[in-house]
Amino acid sequence: MKKILILNWKMQLSVNDSCNLAKKIIDGIDLEEVELGICPDFLSIYKISELIKNSQLKLGSQNTFWATKGAYTGEISPTFLKELGVEFIILGHSERRTNLKETDEIINKKMKTVLENSLTPILCVGENFEERQNNKKDLVIINQIRSALKDVDLKNIKRLIIAYEPIWVIGSGQAIESNEAQETNTIIKQTVSDVLYNCGLELKEKEFENKIQILYGGSVDSNNISKFLKEPNIDGVLVGGAGIKFETLNNLIKSIK
Ligand code: 13P
Repeated sequence: MKKILILNWKMQLSVNDSCNLAKKIIDGIDLEEVELGICPDFLSIYKISELIKNSQLKLGSQNTFWATKGAYTGEISPTFLKELGVEFIILGHSERRTNLKETDEIINKKMKTVLENSLTPILCVGENFEERQNNKKDLVIINQIRSALKDVDLKNIKRLIIAYEPIWVIGSGQAIESNEAQETNTIIKQTVSDVLYNCGLELKEKEFENKIQILYGGSVDSNNISKFLKEPNIDGVLVGGAGIKFETLNNLIKSIK
């Protein structure tokens, strides 16, 4: 299976900068070797969807609302995003949990709508520094996954991506060790297996691999990416800073090979 690389452009690039970078990626990066998805800001998504229509570059969004239509001023519908060719939706990013006070309950509502509309959620989970110091990392992550998937009908699940992002290393330039991410991703895999089992779904290894993928995110760069991708339970990476300039992105992808 191809390794997955999702770029979260956050609120870092203007519409013009986003479109220019998308064009450079299509022209300059070999998309045969990796599954590459970009998550631009909402203003750029429409233009980018037109630009990448005939390429292998995939489109994601950084957030969505939990309803598909209605009187919800300022919100963005997952079905409108789908109409533009969006495949992935990032849910529960720590920056939204912290700055926008997104709760597990809100994330759970969004998860249901995203899956009902056959979009692929990228659920972000991870501990903050204090939780880590208090040995609560695993508990926090298990609870975030269980809450996000609470009462979700997973029987016909097509694809679910979970991204482990230790909050305290995001944007720090200092990632955690790959073996630690591997250990945490193993716990995530087990937790998802348990949730699926409780929904009456026991996936064989191969089926699990095809439907559920677990990423690592947090200060991924060209020096550490290959270490993460060598770990058996790390199916790909969620990248912030290293994915907003063509040169660093190009280096990142070259260093996978
Ligand atoms: P950085 O790669 O900049 O640490 O950001 C990670 C992230 O938050 C991706 O969602």
